[in-house]
Amino acid sequence: MKSPIPRGALALVTGASSGIGRAIAWELAARGVACLLSGRNRRALLTLSREIRDRYGVEVRVVIQDLSRPAAGEKLYRACIRAGYEVDILVNNAGIGLKAEPQHLHRLEDVRELVTLNCASVLELATLFAADMAGRRRGWILNVASTASFQAMPWAALYGASKAFVLSLSEAMHVELGGCGVSVTAVCPGITDTNFFKHGKPRVPGWLYPLISPLRVAKISLRALDRNAPVVVPAFRHWLFAQIPRLVPRSLLLRIMAAIECRRKGIRSKTG
Ligand SMILES: NC(=O)c1ccc[n+]([C@@H]2O[C@H](COP(=O)([O-])OP(=O)(O)OC[C@H]3O[C@@H](n4cnc5c(N)ncnc54)[C@H](OP(=O)(O)O)[C@@H]3O)[C@@H](O)[C@H]2O)c1
Repeated sequence: MKSPIPRGALALVTGASSGIGRAIAWELAARGVACLLSGRNRRALLTLSREIRDRYGVEVRVVIQDLSRPAAGEKLYRACIRAGYEVDILVNNAGIGLKAEPQHLHRLEDVRELVTLNCASVLELATLFAADMAGRRRGWILNVASTASFQAMPWAALYGASKAFVLSLSEAMHVELGGCGVSVTAVCPGITDTNFFKHGKPRVPGWLYPLISPLRVAKISLRALDRNAPVVVPAFRHWLFAQIPRLVPRSLLLRIMAAIECRRKGIRSKTG
């Protein structure tokens, strides 16, 4: 059911200190939505909260939480409840990738950190807030997945798997909560111009696969949430690429993904 985000609602945005989360916070505030900005970087979040308040006059608060720690999603939820916040909109955005390497070369601490942040915290926050929203028969959940959700990602195996988890969870919750007045949308951005690629941006020719701005991702995501779309891929060219896994057999797709990554790294593909 279509249910646009109303003015005066309250949103919790994770990973609001930079990139897509920051842009979503700006967009929500521009629509008259009050914001709880979450992340670890206190200084960046406090500066952003001041800037948003000055510009749009909406209520903005900062909630510091490292979501890569066990049960951190539940801790953030309990902190919101203790402070008396009734969250109408949950934006599950915080996430990381690892260096592009074969899965078996990653350190287990880094693997655990990614799984807790990209999957467990998203799951805990979505489960706990969705229960409250369903009780009130009103709510909006935006989960930030990726175009990496649509196929296996050799050399980014865990990141791809974590985003496939987010997409699958979101689509199922979209259906389950459909009759409860709660909208659930997964946004699957392609390569976006943020601080995400700490280990170097993918070298994809711009004419083939242009970068998208976080602001555009934010605008398209919120419009999709307004109309309760289950999934949205911002940018037409990124959407086109996201259709390939539907058309190509999985074994061939894997070989294509491996060949792209091998070419980038200048090594021979072992999948043929
Ligand atoms: N950029 C892309 O090409 C792209 C494409 C598809 C999907 N995405 C997804 O978009 C989301 C946002 O990424 P971005 O591109 O905007 O990258 P970004 O600029 O690096 O932002 C990541 C955000 O996540 C937060 N974060 C990181 N580790 C955290 C932790 N342990 N606990 C709590 N918050 C943490 C960071 O805040 P603090 O540092 O303050 O903690 C930051 O605000 C991620 O889920 C990413 O997977 C990105």
